[in-house]
Amino acid sequence: MFPTALYHWVALAALISPSLGKLYQNPSQLTKTRYDYIVIGGGAAGSVVASRLSENPWVSVLLVEAGISNEGVLGSIVPLLGPSLTPNTIYDWNYTTTAQPGYNGRSIPYSRGKLLGGSTSVNFMVYMRGSSEDFDKYASITGDSGWNWKNMQQYAKKNEKLVAPADNHNTAGQFIPSFHGNSGPLSVSLPGFPTPLDDRIMATTKELSSEFPFNPDAVGGDVLGVGWSFATIGGGSRSSAATAYLTPVMSRPNLDIVINAQATKLVRTGMVGGLPSFHAVEVAEKAGAPTRTLTASSEIVLSAGTFGTPLLLQLSGIGDRADLRAAGVATIVHNPSVGRNMSDHALLANPFYVNNTDTFDTIFRTPEALNANLERWQTSKTGPLAGGVCNHIGFFRIPKTASIFKMTADPAAGKKSSHYEMIFSNLWVVPGVPAPSTGNFMSITTNLISPTSRGMVKIASSNAFAKPIVDPNFLGTAFDVFTLVEAVKAIKRFVAAKAWKGYVLGPYGALANANTDAEIEQYVRGNAATVFHATGTASMSPRGAKWGVVDPDLKVKGVEGLRIVDGSVIPSSPNAHTQGPIYLFGERGADLIKRDSKVQTVTETL
Ligand SMILES: Cc1cc2nc3c(=O)[nH]c(=O)nc-3n(C[C@H](O)[C@H](O)[C@H](O)COP(=O)(O)OP(=O)(O)OC[C@H]3O[C@@H](n4cnc5c(N)ncnc54)[C@H](O)[C@@H]3O)c2cc1C
Ligand SMILES: *[C@@H]1O[C@H](CO)[C@@H](O)[C@H](O)[C@H]1NC(C)=O
Ligand SMILES: *[C@@H]1O[C@H](CO)[C@@H](O)[C@H](O)[C@H]1NC(C)=O
Ligand SMILES: *[C@@H]1O[C@H](CO)[C@@H](O)[C@H](O)[C@H]1NC(C)=O
Repeated sequence: MFPTALYHWVALAALISPSLGKLYQNPSQLTKTRYDYIVIGGGAAGSVVASRLSENPWVSVLLVEAGISNEGVLGSIVPLLGPSLTPNTIYDWNYTTTAQPGYNGRSIPYSRGKLLGGSTSVNFMVYMRGSSEDFDKYASITGDSGWNWKNMQQYAKKNEKLVAPADNHNTAGQFIPSFHGNSGPLSVSLPGFPTPLDDRIMATTKELSSEFPFNPDAVGGDVLGVGWSFATIGGGSRSSAATAYLTPVMSRPNLDIVINAQATKLVRTGMVGGLPSFHAVEVAEKAGAPTRTLTASSEIVLSAGTFGTPLLLQLSGIGDRADLRAAGVATIVHNPSVGRNMSDHALLANPFYVNNTDTFDTIFRTPEALNANLERWQTSKTGPLAGGVCNHIGFFRIPKTASIFKMTADPAAGKKSSHYEMIFSNLWVVPGVPAPSTGNFMSITTNLISPTSRGMVKIASSNAFAKPIVDPNFLGTAFDVFTLVEAVKAIKRFVAAKAWKGYVLGPYGALANANTDAEIEQYVRGNAATVFHATGTASMSPRGAKWGVVDPDLKVKGVEGLRIVDGSVIPSSPNAHTQGPIYLFGERGADLIKRDSKVQTVTETL
């Protein structure tokens, strides 16, 4: 039976809105072209914003997504199949970086999800929020205490629903319940399938407790140490921005969603308060298809992500004049910060041969093994495919006596924030590189968490369907190289613990011959890639600052009618895999928009 409140909502909405909200397959199907709010990009943040704004039945919302639907995409449902969705598939924007001097001139693929749910529909599902010091830093950078850790906890609770892991194991001692939300839309769980690494990692945190202590739950904002990792998985399936925030509200009469609809340009519609205003957007299904112009009476919210958002601003005449001129776009607002200050977590995958056939590599070797595990997943939503890519992660600092601090100030957000990360996986995990046909592996992925390098996303052509120039400037500083070299030395100390005797047979490939600092540096430069955590290309800054793209309330500087809510506004890399912090930015961003809403709001007495 319908809950009464829901029944009234539907009945009430029928009076104020002529058509029911729905999922349109392309822009030409849209029957309306004017909404209160248009949200561009249905990823982590955009899905939250569209979902939260449409909670008010008096507000009409259109969500515009360039990619396809997430429905029925098996790799986006079965957790351990997630890594098969990238790179270079129909679910990916297929970016490639420029040649990276820090990577010995290599270019690397840079994936972004291109389907409903955005990158949360293709990512590796690790869930955290960052260090408390990260958010306190964002508050102090912007002068808005609303971004501090303490205030953001309400949004964390609003986002998360901690659920049982797929294998229903006893989770006592693996987390701290009070850190977690229990009623948000996004399912989060502890590891859903045990691995032969689990006990050995826990033993190592005891044996080498001063360097690698146990962390009872990094989600609470103290990230240092090794702990059990959380993943955006519920009931053995991926929980994405689409499944958590959109699917349950698809039938709201005041929410329309259009997929296969790429925003190609924001349209200047006049002047408001002495500023150029942008209340319209052009969208098209694909290159050469007709464009439609859609209007937002209240605001347009850009949630196209760290690459899509700065590119759309640049295509619309908002950016550095020299960049725009080179691409043949007339400048409306000169802002040299658009696309700049990108920070990202450089990644280095370090596979080790192990003396155990019980690794997940075996599952992907033969179609028979994969089919058997898929069948198990299909019938019970359990088994290795129901778990994530890692059961443990850890965050660490380089010692304060390290030589690098003679030339570089410590870039970490504070003394309890990290410089690098380790991820422990029971299989070959080298993004974009297929597993060898024989051997069993453990991968310890090392990530640079506090980079001092900054990169950029720059428009290359006035054609909205052309790719931008993506230059993360990986390992562009001595600090960044030093830190990844130290991380490699740290994993060697980690696997030297007694717990790994007879299990780890030795490092795979080039790692085996990287022993001196100079050799390790060459190994790092020759093999590093990315964790796909880019942020900062449309950064928040204080109101009135000479730099930055949005004010602390996420309104685009120098224009009227535009906000940005996505990873691009985060000023510097957090101590986290980025989806968690971005969900929180989505939740608070939606609240800021609601606070300013001029659309009639009803205090619900339904
Ligand atoms: C392979 C991979 C693995 C990752 N693993 C993890 C992980 O394990 N844990 C974690 O926390 N994070 C992970 N991340 C990062 C995380 O998923 C992202 O940081 C996060 O999803 C970014 O959120 P967003 O809202 O800024 O953008 P996105 O989620 O990328 O959403 C942007 C959306 O906008 C759409 N869009 C772009 N341009 C336009 C346009 N012009 N018109 C209309 N729509 C447009 C896109 O198609 C997309 O749907 C991973 C990312 C990738 C790619
Ligand atoms: C990415 O590459 C795949 C495989 O070549 C292709 O099918 C897809 O259309 C590409 N996506 C984009 C946005 O270019
Ligand atoms: C990059 O960010 C720093 C603050 O971290 C700021 O001082 C600088 O002006 C920014 N650069 C650009 C081009 O926005
Ligand atoms: C591999 O493990 C077995 C026991 O499981 C042990 O007997 C053997 O010595 C190990 N091999 C190596 C090279 O450590």
